[in-house]
Amino acid sequence: MKHEAQVEQLRKIFGYLDAGETAMGDAVYRHHVSDYTSPDQAGREREMLFRHEPLLIGLSCELPNPGDYVTDDFSGVPILVVRNEAGQVNAFINVCRHRGARVASGCGSGKTVFSCPYHAWTYDRSGRLRSIPFEQGFESVDKTSNGLRPLPVVEKYGMIWVMPTPGGSIDIDGHLAGMADDLVAFGLASYSHYETRVLRARLNWKLVIDTFLETYHLSTLHKNTIAPILHSNLGTFDGMARNLRMIGARKTIDALRQRPESEWDLVRHSALVYVLFPNTVFIMQGDHLETWRVYPGDSVDESKMHVSLYTPEPAVTDKARKYWTKNMDLLMATVQQEDFPLAENIQRDFHSGAQDFVTFGANEPALAYFHRSIKKTLGINAV
Ligand code: FES
Ligand SMILES: [Fe+2]
Repeated sequence: MKHEAQVEQLRKIFGYLDAGETAMGDAVYRHHVSDYTSPDQAGREREMLFRHEPLLIGLSCELPNPGDYVTDDFSGVPILVVRNEAGQVNAFINVCRHRGARVASGCGSGKTVFSCPYHAWTYDRSGRLRSIPFEQGFESVDKTSNGLRPLPVVEKYGMIWVMPTPGGSIDIDGHLAGMADDLVAFGLASYSHYETRVLRARLNWKLVIDTFLETYHLSTLHKNTIAPILHSNLGTFDGMARNLRMIGARKTIDALRQRPESEWDLVRHSALVYVLFPNTVFIMQGDHLETWRVYPGDSVDESKMHVSLYTPEPAVTDKARKYWTKNMDLLMATVQQEDFPLAENIQRDFHSGAQDFVTFGANEPALAYFHRSIKKTLGINAV
């Protein structure tokens, strides 16, 4: 975020602090419980959100060199992303054109070719089918039309997006509308990937995202963990097309008031939380970046996610690694011991018949905005 924009947001935060206020939406929003429990809606989400929207696959720093690759099947489509010798990132459906085995697994570096583990059909970094063992058995097979199926992919702002449906293209600036300035200023191209962990939870994927979208719960649920660090029930809110940004204030923020505006640094004294539509929570956390890429699980009541931590400098010393591992452990502990156990009961009890709606207060504007964006995309009328 540019400095002028940081100052503007800081002034807003100081105003809220002085008045005991927070960003407010227009009204209370009643949100239908079936949004979290309907298998029909889950099916539409899989098709419309997880097949036909650009999904963040990771940051460029995860694939710095030709031959570096990652795979990911959480969208329901097995995806292979690889950087080729020209430095371009390509994405493919990770399925062999012979009889359908996955040609790559996990992630790695220095690959010149991907050799299928079943019968060794071999593809290059641009997805071209290079060799077929015992080729006389496949005389009529045209190698040029049997490369890996390409997927639309874009690399920009130090980030990589893939749409898991062949054909079509990604208009990433249209998709990110209004967020580009913030992303450019973060300078993500120079970040380093520290670690990614996979979590599974017994809650709908949108309920995972909901846990990040208000600061109202900090003083109760996170009384001893986050509340001593961040102000509760205080934050800014801005919708940006279908994405959103909310800024929570660290308690250190007050000290900035004694400093000249030219020295004001919002990033060090806040948690900048973005939802990159549809399924990524992107949190700039003072001295590092966290991303939560959240996907539906096997049923409407389950989810799975990649949680990644990125650092502005590579962690090359033991001291640095210890620091970041501790950071990641603390993050996991807060979510797994505080947010998720409570939210898993919420998910279970949605089926109890207690109520048809949950209520988002006007002081929880990001929740209403996120769900309106989803519903609008799915063609469901918001309440
Ligand atoms: S399935 Fe890949 S070589 Fe046979
Ligand atoms: Fe929380």
